[in-house]
Amino acid sequence: MDEKVFKRFDGDRVTDDMLEEASKLFSENYPRIMGRVCLFIARFGISSYVRVSVNGRLAGNAFACRWAVDGMTICWVTQLVVHRDYRERGLASGLLNKIKLDGDDAYGLISSHPAACLAASKAFRSSINTVSLDFMKDHAESIMKASPEGYVRDAKLRGKLFDPKDDNGLVSSVDTEFDVDHEEPLEALAWVRESMEWPLGELFDGHEFILILQARRRSRPRSSSARRSGTT
Ligand SMILES: CC(C)(COP(=O)(O)OP(=O)(O)OC[C@H]1O[C@@H](n2cnc3c(N)ncnc32)[C@H](O)[C@@H]1OP(=O)(O)O)[C@@H](O)C(=O)NCCC(=O)NCCS
Repeated sequence: MDEKVFKRFDGDRVTDDMLEEASKLFSENYPRIMGRVCLFIARFGISSYVRVSVNGRLAGNAFACRWAVDGMTICWVTQLVVHRDYRERGLASGLLNKIKLDGDDAYGLISSHPAACLAASKAFRSSINTVSLDFMKDHAESIMKASPEGYVRDAKLRGKLFDPKDDNGLVSSVDTEFDVDHEEPLEALAWVRESMEWPLGELFDGHEFILILQARRRSRPRSSSARRSGTT
């Protein structure tokens, strides 16, 4: 049986060797970015780094940066990637589950890959069908404008969710002008749509999906032992 090990590191514990390995994983397993070799992974701004190894080999990772806006702490996921040999085994969902911190109020992700959106929905809510589009509509703009990450701040919201007059099939998208090869994400989208109602609409060239999710709060009342001991 495979041995899977998930680990989370705070930003200040991320080493140059980790960044180098992450950069290699990314450039070998991310869909081709036209005209660019690879995204530069900067140390600046990393709040958390999560990685999973399978039998000792790096199989996937993701970064998060965090910022505050509208009284909320936003955890923004970036550069989520799983090695091609280890996909569709729940590793992306597991990585995002590991990246969560107790103080997070909302999670965000820009991705062209439907599987990244499904993994985020599973880890941060329970499924994509429980995502509140209203929360996203109300908060997307202010969250993005407050981002320390230029590519998030400068992305333009597109789709019916943000502009009811938009009727070209986009629902929750951003125009990033980032020329990512969409062959793999479009195949995944067709496959996903065979089995479910996909809520985020079409995927156009130069665009990616945007997903912003409110953190799930425990609705269970405090246990009687916690009440007795006076803990909060
Ligand atoms: C997107 C990516 C990270 C998903 O990794 P993964 O480990 O295969 O994802 P998981 O196994 O956790 O699957 C998450 C969900 O997506 C579904 N899924 C995974 N791959 C899929 C595919 N190719 N087509 C359709 N659905 C897919 C899974 O069935 C699962 O759905 P469920 O929660 O309803 O069961 C991986 O495909 C990847 O690295 N792609 C290239 C990089 C990329 O596009 N990253 C996103 C940028 S932020």
